[in-house]
Amino acid sequence: MQAPSADDEITTPRLTLRLVREEDLQQLLEMNADETVTRYLPYESWRGMADAQEWLGRAVARLTAGEAWQFVIVQRASGRVIGSCLLFHFDLPSGRAELGYLLGREYWGAGYMQEAASALVDFAFGTASLRRLEAEIDPRNDASARLLERVGFVKEGHLRQRWDTKGEVSDSALYGLLRSDWAGGR
Ligand SMILES: CC(C)(COP(=O)(O)OP(=O)(O)OC[C@H]1O[C@@H](n2cnc3c(N)ncnc32)[C@H](O)[C@@H]1OP(=O)(O)O)[C@@H](O)C(=O)NCCC(=O)NCCS
Repeated sequence: MQAPSADDEITTPRLTLRLVREEDLQQLLEMNADETVTRYLPYESWRGMADAQEWLGRAVARLTAGEAWQFVIVQRASGRVIGSCLLFHFDLPSGRAELGYLLGREYWGAGYMQEAASALVDFAFGTASLRRLEAEIDPRNDASARLLERVGFVKEGHLRQRWDTKGEVSDSALYGLLRSDWAGGR
């Protein structure tokens, strides 16, 4: 499977998704430093540009190794990076990958992630020819659960005490979406 190139863009009515670049880091730092945004993410909030740079290094290494495709979400009207989303944990023989996403706090509640995630799902099942997408969330993350269900994911399981991060043990809810569900729902 061909990874997207730096010039590839996925467009929706309000948004453009493209691979992350160094110039995006300041805006990504603002959202990843916000405890409200990172509350249910399994990593500490970023403390500064050094954390952002380290994260970018990992994202580029994972892209090069074919392990993850890290996109940013650009609001076309303003040109601002308002969030990020990625496909990772690829298992190509099984045609599957996992979806992750995050929006800056001021952009919640406007349907932006539904728009971005739907486009990324289209890309995953279309261009990337995957058959199954998965998402793992903290079951207390109601906004994320609502988003997944709106996009068409089905809750497939609840794993108890799966994570021990940020001084807290937490469960996981697992969601799945099949290409056949997606095609059938359109
Ligand atoms: C998860 C997250 C991306 C969801 O953001 P969101 O803004 O609720 O999701 P959407 O962009 O799809 O917007 C949907 C909401 O916008 C509202 N909305 C407003 N205008 C809309 C429009 N034109 N189209 C669709 N929805 C619209 C919907 O009613 C919905 O609100 P509701 O859930 O209160 O009913 C966001 O909460 C987030 O970034 N959280 C922190 C990071 C995180 O936890 N990521 C997930 C880790 S697994």
